[in-house]
Amino acid sequence: MSEDNKPIKIAFFDAQDYDIKAFEAANESYNYEIKFFETKLTADTVKLAKKCDAVCVFVNDMIDKDIIDALVKRKVKLIALRCAGYNNVDLAYANGKITVVRVPAYSPYAVAEHAMALLLTSIRRIHKAYIRTRDFNFNLNGLTGFDLHGKTVGVIGTGKIGRIFTDICKGFGMNVLAYDKFPAADSGLHYVSLDEIWEQADIISLRCPLTDETKHLINTPTIAKMKKGIVIINTSRGALINSKALLEGLKSRKIGAACLDVYEEEADVFYHDYSGHIIDDDILARLISFPNVIVTSHQAFLTREALGNIAATTLDNVRTVLSGEKCNNEVSYQG
Ligand code: NAI
Repeated sequence: MSEDNKPIKIAFFDAQDYDIKAFEAANESYNYEIKFFETKLTADTVKLAKKCDAVCVFVNDMIDKDIIDALVKRKVKLIALRCAGYNNVDLAYANGKITVVRVPAYSPYAVAEHAMALLLTSIRRIHKAYIRTRDFNFNLNGLTGFDLHGKTVGVIGTGKIGRIFTDICKGFGMNVLAYDKFPAADSGLHYVSLDEIWEQADIISLRCPLTDETKHLINTPTIAKMKKGIVIINTSRGALINSKALLEGLKSRKIGAACLDVYEEEADVFYHDYSGHIIDDDILARLISFPNVIVTSHQAFLTREALGNIAATTLDNVRTVLSGEKCNNEVSYQG
């Protein structure tokens, strides 16, 4: 119940069928009034949040100053992110105006396992083999891969997902080099400088958040330092990679393969079916055209376990904040 004893109302944006299913199941314990909207939260759609206590948003809902003002004007008290990353919210501006919560961990396994799935698919050419055998083409030419065993993987960001990913890599007999701005003393990982990762890794896996500091971490100068044939995996945030530099690196054959679950300009494309359309984004279209690039549509989180945990934590975040309790999942501005 909200302060005035009415059921808590949540405007839920960017709702997909799987979200609705998971949240309706979790809401049996809360009985909130959740209005599901297929649209993203934008300046045009913010009016849908009228009379709601909270909005629930996802990775590509851009919560800028105007949206925050519009929510505050409509007396919305809470922005409940149903994701871990919060780079899409202007936290500095939200500070003191509206509370922001997130789901810091729902299944780091889902994301780490997806990263490994992309890597294996790419280097063992499974995406190509699948299409061939569907067409009764059993020829193996062009499908030669390489062993992961004995290769060096550079993992940038050794938080929850990074640590699970390194464990998976160790299971394959890979050498793990780690970089983190805040190395974990208890991790037993071999931390090195970023330059050592660029120079020594056969595979680079991005597992850090998107911040001003990490934006375009992969760019033309850093690609120049990498080994020829480097495989880059990004299931964190698209803007960690300068897409134009990636494109050039692939065209020059410096980059051997790219496994991307996220893309800098994904907001207008991912989660929608454009199969009958002409894509305006030339960089994305070109990337998808390469045989050594695999793009998935920000789906690394998409497991039954993760969806259940996202829904349960989000609804509990709403309860905690709106009942005035301290919420451990509040994202506060670190000025
Ligand atoms: P986490 O907070 O547990 O770990 C992040 C790690 O990055 C920390 O160890 C932190 O010290 C490190 N870090 C911070 N700044 C850094 C810098 N400048 N350079 C290097 N390392 C830095 O986060 P978690 O749960 O492991 O998630 C990582 C990222 O994965 C999230 O920020 C999010 O962007 C992304 N993600 C993507 C999903 C998908 O579906 N594709 C789903 C969930 C998360």
